[in-house]
Amino acid sequence: MHVGFRGLASLIMPWFYDPRRTYEDNYALGPFGGFGDVAAARPDGPPRESFAGEAVYSAFGIPAGPLVNAAFCAAAFRAGFDVNVYKTVRTRTHPVHPFPHTLAVHVDGDLTPERAARPLLADDALDEATSISNSFGVPSRDPDAWQADMAAAVAAAGPGQLLVGSFQGTRPDADAGDRDGAYLADHVAAARLVRETGARALELNLSCPNEGTGALLCFDTPAVTRIVAAVKEEIGDLPLYVKLAHFRDDAALAGLVRATAPYVAGYAAINTIPARLVDADGRQALPGEGRAVAGVCGDAIRWAGLDMVERLARLREDVSSAFEIVGVGGVLTADHARAYRAVGADAVMSATGAMLDPGLGAAVRGSTAPVA
Ligand SMILES: Cc1cc2nc3c(=O)[nH]c(=O)nc-3n(C[C@H](O)[C@H](O)[C@H](O)COP(=O)(O)O)c2cc1C
Repeated sequence: MHVGFRGLASLIMPWFYDPRRTYEDNYALGPFGGFGDVAAARPDGPPRESFAGEAVYSAFGIPAGPLVNAAFCAAAFRAGFDVNVYKTVRTRTHPVHPFPHTLAVHVDGDLTPERAARPLLADDALDEATSISNSFGVPSRDPDAWQADMAAAVAAAGPGQLLVGSFQGTRPDADAGDRDGAYLADHVAAARLVRETGARALELNLSCPNEGTGALLCFDTPAVTRIVAAVKEEIGDLPLYVKLAHFRDDAALAGLVRATAPYVAGYAAINTIPARLVDADGRQALPGEGRAVAGVCGDAIRWAGLDMVERLARLREDVSSAFEIVGVGGVLTADHARAYRAVGADAVMSATGAMLDPGLGAAVRGSTAPVA
């Protein structure tokens, strides 16, 4: 069924990735809420925007995470999200954290660093949620399984649409010999495996809050520079984007951008903001070791995404570079997407917002391009 963007939201329900179901159930049975059954009308005329050197109908889509496999990616493209990122993969099988992963997080206003330093109430009141946790641990299947599936996701992009392949390195065991060398080599191997799928743009996740919040890779400029240089050498002309957390320190962000701009096509910001999540009794909300702190996304982090985009746009002028900026964080409406573009984003993506309103892609398209 083909529908215009105004009709789309009424035909598909929230939560195409259903947080009430396990990750494995979502992977095997999703997408949910009718997301796979409805097609947005294709905009009239040729694609008028561009991203990663490709013409796209709208430089808007879903970032790494909710699109866990090709079935989800295909549904997102059909629903009018034009630039979509396949959930981050690794060079080997990696288990998912214990269920649940996504809880409603109760934040009154912006999740500032000061607010994030105190515990936040998190529960299963997902019907009213606009901010949520995502604590999956970046699960991955073996490349033998995900490479073919990512290739199918690449093929699912229609004219004026683009699939981006997201990947990250896995830290070697503590007793491994040359740990830094092995970690770098794992990034390069992951990039090669993604390139082999036919993906025309790659994104390196440097900001996974579930990999140890004290030491996000994006805050280690020397290590990141070595890694992106080696990855870029591996993938040649393919555009490489790197996904960043919110930086509090301007000098650190400037240092990272100066060191890495020669290798990257752009920066995506932000990932999530880490915070301590507790239940109504003050106990750890998510089960299992290492999960007292989890990434928060959605409405409460929009301020941080906008702040990073604005600062990256200033740095782009300072370093006279032409890198692209992908604005991510708290985009729940087409107006929010426009706000990101206004402060310098070349593309905008929405994870939580798209899950809450699967018609968002078509709405953003409809706000920038004539719909047939
Ligand atoms: C269910 C879910 C899974 C996610 N998984 C990943 C991931 O695998 N890799 C990644 O770089 N970001 C991941 N993210 C973070 C999103 O890409 C995005 O940066 C973050 O959610 C902020 O955007 P939002 O406020 O629109 O949700 C995930 C987010 C959600 C909601």
